[in-house]
Amino acid sequence: MARTKQQFVCQSCGSVSPRWQGRCDSCGAWNTLIEETVRPAKTGGPPPVRGGRVIELVGLAGATDEAPRMLTGLGELDRVTGGGLVPAATLLVGGDPGIGKSTLLLQAAGAMARRGDPVVYVSGEEAIAQIRLRAQRLQVMDAPVQLAAETNVENILTTLAAGPPPGLAIIDSIQTLWSGEVESAPGTVTQVRAAAQAMIRWAKSTGTAVVFVGHVTKDGQIAGPRVVEHMVDAVLYFEGDGGHRFRILRAVKNRFGPTDEIGVFEMTGAGLQEVANPSELFLGERNAATPGTAVFAGMEGSRPLLVEIQALVAPTTLGTARRTVVGWDSGRLAMVLAVLEAHCGVRMGDCDVYLNVAGGLRIVEPAADLAVAAALVSSRLGKPLPADTVYFGEISLSGSLRPVAQSAARLREATKLGFDRAATPAGRDDEAGANRRTFDRLTDLVAAIGALPA
Ligand code: TYD
Ligand code: MG
Repeated sequence: MARTKQQFVCQSCGSVSPRWQGRCDSCGAWNTLIEETVRPAKTGGPPPVRGGRVIELVGLAGATDEAPRMLTGLGELDRVTGGGLVPAATLLVGGDPGIGKSTLLLQAAGAMARRGDPVVYVSGEEAIAQIRLRAQRLQVMDAPVQLAAETNVENILTTLAAGPPPGLAIIDSIQTLWSGEVESAPGTVTQVRAAAQAMIRWAKSTGTAVVFVGHVTKDGQIAGPRVVEHMVDAVLYFEGDGGHRFRILRAVKNRFGPTDEIGVFEMTGAGLQEVANPSELFLGERNAATPGTAVFAGMEGSRPLLVEIQALVAPTTLGTARRTVVGWDSGRLAMVLAVLEAHCGVRMGDCDVYLNVAGGLRIVEPAADLAVAAALVSSRLGKPLPADTVYFGEISLSGSLRPVAQSAARLREATKLGFDRAATPAGRDDEAGANRRTFDRLTDLVAAIGALPA
């Protein structure tokens, strides 16, 4: 019998080391190397080429078929995947424990099964009774979903191969799967990779779409199966925090669609509700009369989204001023503060600064600069901003303002929600409406806020 070999595999990036080390050489993570046993390959070196056949090489031009789509029936999920699931494609849905991944997928399974696509839901985390209870709560008990509680890949694949292949198979979660072919503990990178590989191979050969659930670690990586991200066709993150009802589904990789779309859901007592008009939701509890709040007209993919930016600037009581940011980049905040100090004469050095994006949303667009600056200045000067104005625009280090893309869509959304005025940089594509006030430099905006009544 071939001797087995011990090796140490980084659970974060999957790189292999012959010795144990405290820190992974490849990704720099600490304490991630775990001992795993491998069966050596039967022969050394690359396998000999035997029994291969000549494959046909073709040119780039030629007939292509648009990938057919299976709609799940959850509009927001279909939007994020780029118009529904693609047969034979594999999808990873990541997110913190308890955020609602199992809920989302059970709802999708129910909706799809009702539309007539056979769906198999395999849970390695919950017992059948638990899933049935959840199905009752979500009112999908009547949907013809085939359920199993199983963690062994060979059992799952044998079961799936026994009947006609379903349209969709859901595996909740990839971390619980294990294969008898591999001698590592369940949940290790080697196991997760082997299990995912087996499922993906099966998906490609049968045309079934497979959705994996993956847990995310505290620092925002899909635990262990980082390696799975490279193997699947699309990766979606389900985010939000426990204190808010809103959940955002975001595509971070998609071989069949855009990656900048988001889907917005609200967690209710009866499962996830789709939110068709997120702006209304994010502005829902707005109190415009206080200084320090500005409405940002943002874009998430093809969809405009209005959110409230809240700032609190207060004299510091400690030696060093605090800067606390929720929902935005702290480096970007430091930059906006520096520009306000250097070019606009707004003193911030002796103040604590707190910045929050309302509703638990996370904004990545540089277009939010102007709204952040407006909120900061409004709080610093104690002057409430006009309630009917939205802000967007990028700030450069010189203190000048740069126009951002898709301003027409942003303005349309603002008007729709009753914001009649906008403060923006002067743009090229200007169909500048009468109610749009343009600024070339940040100082001009600061001066305008300074002229407002307190
Ligand atoms: P779950 O889907 O189990 O999370 P995950 O699979 O990502 O770990 O969701 C669990 C949370 O969602 C739980 O705290 C309860 C809440 N929830 C509701 O608020 N309403 C519902 O209808 C359901 C099914 C769950
Ligand atoms: Mg779950």
